Amino acid sequence: MRLPERDLLLSRRAGVAWPEAPLLDRLALSPTADVLDVGAGDGRLLAALRERGHRGRRVGLDPSPGPGVLPGEAETLPFAPASFDVVLLVRVLAHLPGPERALAEARRVLRPGGRVYAAQHGEAHLARMWAALGQGTAVAGLARPGWEDLLLAVTVGPEDAQAIAASYGLEVKARDLGAAFPLRDWLHLRVEILCRNLRPGYLSKRSYPAALRRWAPRA
Ligand SMILES: C[S@@+](CC[C@H](N)C(=O)[O-])C[C@H]1O[C@@H](n2cnc3c(N)ncnc32)[C@H](O)[C@@H]1O
Repeated sequence: MRLPERDLLLSRRAGVAWPEAPLLDRLALSPTADVLDVGAGDGRLLAALRERGHRGRRVGLDPSPGPGVLPGEAETLPFAPASFDVVLLVRVLAHLPGPERALAEARRVLRPGGRVYAAQHGEAHLARMWAALGQGTAVAGLARPGWEDLLLAVTVGPEDAQAIAASYGLEVKARDLGAAFPLRDWLHLRVEILCRNLRPGYLSKRSYPAALRRWAPRA
């Protein structure tokens, strides 16, 4: 099972399309904004945006593009400077060997007043995203006016847990699952909001562990 199938399983259990529905709800993009989705994969996010009646440009880019997505790489965006109002990097930065280059490119194609939304989940991927932001944003000329934690309640059964574990190459035997299921948990997506040229060097490395704790759901 790959990420799209895992998302689909979790979406069924959560009752809404994860992560695009809560993400688009929260971003509430202007319906006329020109949007670039970098690392768009199968183009799901842009399709959801279209279904919401978005009238601005919707452009997706990915080295392994799905239908309607352009082939291309985050580090060398094939667009003129100041082409977009919004650049999305959803679950992408942590997978790039050069995330700082991708942020610099996002800034280049962003119009003045535009925003980059960089989203990630999972401790290792969050740490990689924050490392890229902490080291790269002064270079990229992006500043961070805020962030959003999206949390979505989900209940998973024992078969779901086995399927999800298997998708990471782990085998979980039915007898090992115990009485913990059905398990109520939270899906999480951290969205970092970046703007052009507000102020440099805004994200202190010292804040990472605290930030990692911040999204833990409160009891
Ligand atoms: C974890 S998937 C996320 C896909 C989609 N954004 C989502 O949230 O469902 C990471 C995506 O990054 C893409 N990717 C990998 N290297 C890339 C690069 N250099 N530039 C742009 N996208 C890249 C992959 O092909 C893949 O579609």
